[in-house]
Amino acid sequence: MPAVPAWSIVRPLLFRLDPETAHGAAMAALRTAQALPPVVSALRRRFLVEAPALRQTLFGRELLNPVGLAAGFDKDAVAVRGLAALGFGCIEAGTVTPKPQAGNPRPRLFRHSSAESLQNAMGFNNAGLAAVRERLLRLRPAPVPLGVNVGKNKATPADEAVADYELLIHAFAGLCDYLVVNVSSPNTPGLRDLQNEGFLRAVLRMATGITGRPVLVKIAPDLEEADAVRLAEVAVDSGAAGVVATNTTNDYALLPGAKDFGGLSGAVLREKSFRIFDAVARRLFGRAVLISAGGIGSGAEAYRRLQAGASLVQVYTAFVYGGPGLPRRINEELLELMERDGAKGLGEVIGAAR
Ligand SMILES: Cc1cc2nc3c(=O)[nH]c(=O)nc-3n(C[C@H](O)[C@H](O)[C@H](O)COP(=O)(O)O)c2cc1C
Repeated sequence: MPAVPAWSIVRPLLFRLDPETAHGAAMAALRTAQALPPVVSALRRRFLVEAPALRQTLFGRELLNPVGLAAGFDKDAVAVRGLAALGFGCIEAGTVTPKPQAGNPRPRLFRHSSAESLQNAMGFNNAGLAAVRERLLRLRPAPVPLGVNVGKNKATPADEAVADYELLIHAFAGLCDYLVVNVSSPNTPGLRDLQNEGFLRAVLRMATGITGRPVLVKIAPDLEEADAVRLAEVAVDSGAAGVVATNTTNDYALLPGAKDFGGLSGAVLREKSFRIFDAVARRLFGRAVLISAGGIGSGAEAYRRLQAGASLVQVYTAFVYGGPGLPRRINEELLELMERDGAKGLGEVIGAAR
C-alpha cells in the first residue's frame, strides 16, 4: 500500500509557502494521487469513515456522511476524485463564471494562523463554463454527490446578471446533483447587491424554468439577521430547494490585524455564521435543504449545526489547517456524539434543536 505522508510533516512545509502556492501544491498532489487507482484505494482506506449512522439521502443521492467540501477549494473541479478519497460526503465545485476569469491580482490569500482563519480576495478566478463543463463530462459518474456553485463574471452588469446564471445553470444542471447561486462573495464588486428580493425571484424563476435539479442560494453572514431570513424565505418561496449559509465575512473588526479587503473565514467567522444559519433554520427547517458553512472544524461544531437544522456541513478553512484527516476526525467525533445521545441515525440529529 503506498504510504501517505503524515500531515505533521507536510503542514510545516506547505505553510512555508505563500498560501496560494501551497494550495496549488496540494491540488497538484491530489491530481497526481487521483490518477493512480492504488493510491485512491489507500486514501479511501485511511480517510473514509464507513458508518450506516452517518448516511442519508440528499438531492436523490446517497451521501456517505454529512461533511462536505465548501466551494472555492476546487473551483475548476480538477481534483474531485482525490478529494472524494479523503472522505468528504459531498463536494461543491466552483464558483464557476460563464467566461474564464483571472481574478484579483496576487497576493490575494492570507493566513491568520494563530486565529485558525484565512482572508481571501480571490475574485472568482476560474477556468470558465466551457472548461469546467468538459471536466465534469469526463468525471461522470462523480465519485460523491457533486454541487456546482455558479456566479456572474466581474464584467457583467447587475441588470444582465440573470443571463449569466442562466448560461451556467443550462450548462451544469445535467452534470451535478445540486446547483448553488452565489450572490455572497465579497470579492466581486456589486455581487452582494444581488441579495435582494427582486433578483432572487427573477433568478429562481429562470432556474426552476429550465431545470428540475435543486437550486440553492448561498448567502453572506453580513446581512442583518432579519434580512437574511427574509431573503432566504423569498428564495425558497420562489423555488429554491435550499440555502447555503454562509460565505466569508467582511466584518474586519472580528480579527485585529485583519486586512481591510476580502473575506474572512475560519474560526473568527464561527459564531457569526452560526447565528445567521440558526436564524434561517428557525424559519425554514422542514421546508428547505439547509447547508451550514463557516468556521466548522470539529465534530462538536458540526453536531451543533446539524442539530440546528443543517443536512450537510461544509468546511474549507479548517481543512487547510487540519489537513487531509479532517473529514475523518469530524465524522468520528460525530459518531461519538451520536452514541452519547443515543441517536441511531442522522434523522435523529438533524433539526433536533428545532
Ligand atoms: C480561499 C477561499 C476561496 C473561496 N472561494 C469561494 C467561491 O469561489 N465560492 C463560494 O461560494 N465560496 C467561496 N469561499 C467561501 C467558502 O466556501 C466558505 O463559505 C467560507 O470559507 C466559510 O467556511 P470556512 O470557515 O470553513 O472556510 C472561499 C473561501 C476561501 C477561504
